[in-house]
Amino acid sequence: MAHKIAVIGGDGIGPDVTAEAIKVIRAAGVDLATTDFDLGGSRYLKDGEILSDESLDELRAFDCILLGAVGTPDVPPGVIERGLLLKMRFALDLFVNQRPFVGTAPGGTEPHDFVVIRENTEGPYVGEGGSLREGTPQEVATQGSFNTRFGVERCIRYAFALAASRKRKHLTLVHKTNVLQFAGGLWQRTFDEVATEFPQVVTAYNHVDAACIYFVQDPHRYDVIVTDNLFGDILTDLGGAVSGGIGLASSANLNPDRTGPSMFEPVHGSAPDIAGQNLANPTAAILSGALMLDFLGEGDVADRIRAACAVEPGTGSTTDVGDAIAARVGH
Ligand code: IPM
Ligand code: MN
Repeated sequence: MAHKIAVIGGDGIGPDVTAEAIKVIRAAGVDLATTDFDLGGSRYLKDGEILSDESLDELRAFDCILLGAVGTPDVPPGVIERGLLLKMRFALDLFVNQRPFVGTAPGGTEPHDFVVIRENTEGPYVGEGGSLREGTPQEVATQGSFNTRFGVERCIRYAFALAASRKRKHLTLVHKTNVLQFAGGLWQRTFDEVATEFPQVVTAYNHVDAACIYFVQDPHRYDVIVTDNLFGDILTDLGGAVSGGIGLASSANLNPDRTGPSMFEPVHGSAPDIAGQNLANPTAAILSGALMLDFLGEGDVADRIRAACAVEPGTGSTTDVGDAIAARVGH
């Protein structure tokens, strides 16, 4: 049976890299029934739609969503990102953002292999706050961070279960508990309580600033990391930079309860400066496709795609790289 996949190519390089991901998955022998959704900056400029309730309801009927990238210089920053990408994360309750990092840090000799679990529906991303006297010298701006016991606990529990399933069985909480005492306290207490359910998992804690140093100088210490939405956003760009570049960084926005479709996308953005030039590295999109296959129960094919991507260093045009990886996974 074909997997029903909604494809949102989006803006900039998004449609091009997504096409390569689909090409590779099909070459690997997996049957996909794809439906394209014209959403993103150009659609918004055409008729004003970013993501209507009708489109959202249509998306709910799919097994998964494959997304390229969103955001265009023709629309003020954040409008499409918040109205499309973040809206899907919230409305579809994609509460886990899973971002694997396999690679060798610059100057390093041994490859590392760790996964960041980023809480994906709370924190400062909720958009709580406001401003007063905007544009005046007396301007005030507040931007809150939402952390609920329910939201923090389900994310942490997912991370523990993932760590328990891996060889090293090691989980690090990353936060800033020394300064953010309220949110940090909730995260730390919840982490410690859930830890009692997973005695086989060895735990650690790092402040986020220290974690930045370890990402660069000692990434081997990590197996699974769990952290909040904003720390996870920042750390995973760094994770990409120390793992072969952001062109290789993949991500899964998961609804682990499977009450709706999960969404898979590269960590990188729409790169409007190189859009339409067949220059973008499609590997991050292809590896995001592999994460989608993991979630669809096609883990063996996903492993084959990952092995093919590891051989292909990502040189050549977008279509060249896609073709080379497709040829390697073909049978
Ligand atoms: C990401 C992106 C998004 C985020 C942006 C585009 C809103 O940077 O997926 O990491 O901040 O989550
Ligand atoms: Mn980001």
